[in-house]
Amino acid sequence: MFRSARAPGRLIAFEGLDGVGKTTQARLLAAHLRRLGLPVVLTREPTAGIYGERLRRLRQEGRQGLSPRQELALFLADRREHVEQVMRPALAAGKIVITDRYYYSSMAYQGALGLDPGEIEALHADFAPHPDLVILLVLPAPERIKRLQERGSPVDAFEQQDYLAKVAAIFDRLQAPNLIRVDGRGSEAEVHHRILAQVGRFLNLPDLAAARESDNSCQEQEP
Ligand code: TYD
Repeated sequence: MFRSARAPGRLIAFEGLDGVGKTTQARLLAAHLRRLGLPVVLTREPTAGIYGERLRRLRQEGRQGLSPRQELALFLADRREHVEQVMRPALAAGKIVITDRYYYSSMAYQGALGLDPGEIEALHADFAPHPDLVILLVLPAPERIKRLQERGSPVDAFEQQDYLAKVAAIFDRLQAPNLIRVDGRGSEAEVHHRILAQVGRFLNLPDLAAARESDNSCQEQEP
């Protein structure tokens, strides 16, 4: 099966609720690895493709009668395209692919709509490569909401709170061999250093921990 075939590259997925710092930390990690001369592709889901854009519109305008299964089908279509067009070619070329969200988001968010997370995972078996490392960022709800407020993002509407509590509960229960939970509390630099220590270990890049000692420029952004 394709999934078990080892591609030469490495796949790292960032997961967690909105406001835990995934996007910032994915960028900091990508910038750090690039400074070390490693080839990195930083990507995200939902993508900027037709399904991803449709999903963003749905989020802004509401689900509009879409059933949980139909919503899941859109995320799967977006991911299939993402894997074929971006991930698989980059992995085959030996690159480190860092994705801001992956199929664990479907397990948690569409699982929270009543679908079975195990079944959702199984729907990826024939096309989505297993990540080498899943970094699940964890932040207590009050701090997460404070960060969303500070950056002017929409804060969980009252009716969303129940739903997000269910999403969080599924993330809490997730177990996978290469899934690690990283404490999202503290400064961007503190969380970044926590992540570097783990990435070095998981990807067998011993230079990483050494390189970070002399690295104080944690504010680097994607161009
Ligand atoms: P988000 O990371 O906020 O994307 P962006 O900041 O680029 O707009 O993701 C959009 C939302 O989609 C987020 O609330 C989580 C949700 N989502 C799912 O419900 N299922 C999925 O499979 C994925 C990838 C995301």
